[in-house]
Amino acid sequence: LSSNRINLLDDQIISQIAAGEVIEGPSAVLKELCENSLDAGALSITVAIESGGKKLVKVADDGFGMSIDDLSAAFKRHSTSKIRSAEELSAISTLGFRGEALASIASVARVEAVSRETDTDSIEGNRISIEGGNILEISPAGSTTGTTVTVKDLFFNTPARKKFLKNDKSESRKCLLTFKSLCLSRSDVEFNYYSENRKLLNLPPQSLKDRISDVFGGDIIEGIIDVDFAEGDYRIFGYVSEKEHTKRTREFQYLYLNGRRISDRRLGASIYSAYSGMVAQGDFPFYFLFLEMDPSLVDVNVHPAKSEVRFRYENQVAGFARRAVQRSLGIESVMGGFNSGLQYRGNYTSQRQGGPSGAPGESAVLVGNKLTPEEYRLLINPPVSPGSREQELIDLTDENKLPGESVDRFIPENLFQLHNKYIIAQIKSGMVVFDQHAAHERILFEQTLNHLEAGKAPSQKLLFPHFLELSPGDSEIFEEMIPWLEKMGFAILASGPRLYQVETVPAGLKVSDEISMIRGMLEYYKENEEQREDNAERIAASFACKAAIKAGDSLTPEEMVGLIEALFRTGTSFACPHGRPTYIRIDMREFDRRFGRLT
Ligand SMILES: Nc1ncnc2c1ncn2[C@@H]1O[C@H](COP(=O)(O)OP(=O)(O)OP(=O)(O)O)[C@@H](O)[C@H]1O
Ligand SMILES: [Mg+2]
Repeated sequence: LSSNRINLLDDQIISQIAAGEVIEGPSAVLKELCENSLDAGALSITVAIESGGKKLVKVADDGFGMSIDDLSAAFKRHSTSKIRSAEELSAISTLGFRGEALASIASVARVEAVSRETDTDSIEGNRISIEGGNILEISPAGSTTGTTVTVKDLFFNTPARKKFLKNDKSESRKCLLTFKSLCLSRSDVEFNYYSENRKLLNLPPQSLKDRISDVFGGDIIEGIIDVDFAEGDYRIFGYVSEKEHTKRTREFQYLYLNGRRISDRRLGASIYSAYSGMVAQGDFPFYFLFLEMDPSLVDVNVHPAKSEVRFRYENQVAGFARRAVQRSLGIESVMGGFNSGLQYRGNYTSQRQGGPSGAPGESAVLVGNKLTPEEYRLLINPPVSPGSREQELIDLTDENKLPGESVDRFIPENLFQLHNKYIIAQIKSGMVVFDQHAAHERILFEQTLNHLEAGKAPSQKLLFPHFLELSPGDSEIFEEMIPWLEKMGFAILASGPRLYQVETVPAGLKVSDEISMIRGMLEYYKENEEQREDNAERIAASFACKAAIKAGDSLTPEEMVGLIEALFRTGTSFACPHGRPTYIRIDMREFDRRFGRLT
């Protein structure tokens, strides 16, 4: 006796399954309906929700509307006016294209749509009502031009899915967030929002900046910088936060591709990296960025809710976005062709002693704040008696050129090494504490990037060649690193299967064991494959991390001087390549406060 196990599912179940992917809750209904309105050329969209959208999501637009035939076709699966052929799928310029959203919604809710076309003489529109995928009625109905879709009782016929909805409050919050990101995508369109019969937002057509301010409140505008940058096939515009104006969450990071909000870890990381470790751990820049490119350069059909996309040239786009943000932040890359794009990587810092001490607004402990030229002068050259030789030297110096140029006037006696880990120096407003490892890491990172760019760095010959034997997997990765290592001053010869002979190392390298340092670099390189997009940066960071002096290394006064001077010659002196601060300032007020001297 044979039994057939495989059934063809009927359309209604197919739609419900599809709805499971596309419509995860009321906010997805809201998004799909508004996207349809925008695709229909609407210039005004009004949204109303009740009970967090579970009971009702209603979207009314003044778009071009639908004929009676279109109205009934619109709710069938795979019915769309937006593409006709597979070729068109490769260059989508509308928000919708699958012909799936309305059918999915109608299969799991009670839906009514009323629509009237703009370009007909008819003074009436039509109405359709559908419940759980079954058409109940199609009839003429009085209507203004445009379309209104009302979705009631979401998941009424799929109780299992209904159970997964959150309480009204949090569904309501999700709806509002979804609505806000739609509002930002088109500031030229009027948007209105009602929740539980209360008007929450009324946004006239306006500039992007005004839209941001109306949606998120005026203070957010205070700390933003304009971005508008085009290169090759790409353009990006919008706003990013100044490095001093960060948020404690990623909530305010809005990235759009051709008008569609997307989430993209890689792009998010490049934008973050543009801040070159200038933001402390746990702080995030905020941004509203609009990336535009020819639709054929991106595949938007890779995610059920279309919130992720696949770029044809991902690296290009990531590099472009980072450069655009860097330029807007006014960061000159000291590395010329290379960017100082640095990323904070949680796993790395957590191994260490806790990362930066996140200092709240009013605190006198300043993390990663640049020293002013005057503070720098006082740091390297504390107060001297008038008329002395030192004073003459100071007078000769152009203030603005100070950091980086007054190399030979450092006074070692003013430095103190604490537990072979931190270096303490006095400045006018209090003191500066350097993290010797982080500082050295920053220096080596930039030096190495320079060498990688320039080609060949000075090297020193080892007394005896050292040997490195690697596993098959590791040796494959190591081979990838060798050309970079040679530019840095290493000479490495293959001298057997997976056996390498190291003959020279970068000049000035001071480590007790070159081979274990190289192994460390390899490990670092492997671990950070995801995070660091640029191979040169990954190599430079791995070297910086492994070759830098460690906590526990005792330094002579001259070494401390050299370290601090070299640090201030780097482009981003206040943060190590991982975004940890290289120094912190502690204000005299902090001491005064703690000693009870403040009145
Ligand atoms: N508000 C609207 N105004 C005018 N036409 C609409 C509106 N909403 C839907 N339509 C029509 O109904 C069709 C089906 O809409 P639906 O959202 O199901 O699919 P889509 O937008 O084409 O693709 P996707 O499933 O990717 O959203 C659309 O292609 C469009 O022609
Ligand atoms: Mg659609």
